Amino acid sequence: MLKQQFRCKARRWVWLSAAAVCLLASGAHAEPDAARKEELRYLLEQDCGSCHGLTRKGGLGSPLLPENLADSSDEALLEVILEGIPGTPMPPWKYLMSREDAVWLVKLIRKGIDHDG
Ligand code: HEC
Repeated sequence: MLKQQFRCKARRWVWLSAAAVCLLASGAHAEPDAARKEELRYLLEQDCGSCHGLTRKGGLGSPLLPENLADSSDEALLEVILEGIPGTPMPPWKYLMSREDAVWLVKLIRKGIDHDG
């Protein structure tokens, strides 16, 4: 009887730790908070826009509309944004944003300029 109770408690502890690990893991991939999202929206329009066009139709940089990027994976776009493209004017942004920021930017770009509000 006592043994049974102990096992129950032990099992509960395992579940609790698993839940804690899950929470921590999801925290590491959390989206930027609302204020940061605003900053990133502004950055996309102003900074990225200075090369890729205010409406993302391209300029010095290639167009960044969903249809232009359909063949690129999220991972590939993420790398381009964080690392830049050496030998081209596309700069690395990893000094100015976290990976989570870039993941969110990719989502925003994929939605398209008319639907990212
Ligand atoms: C100084 C100019 C410049 C700025 C600023 C800039 N880019 Fe670029 N970007 C480029 C150029 C040029 C290319 C194309 C490089 C090549 O392949 O020749 C490019 C390519 C890209 C690509 C790859 C497109 C494709 O078709 O695969 C992505 C994605 C991208 N930029 C995102 C961004 C984002 C997001 C920002 C802002 C955080 C940004 N860029 C800011 C110049 C710029």
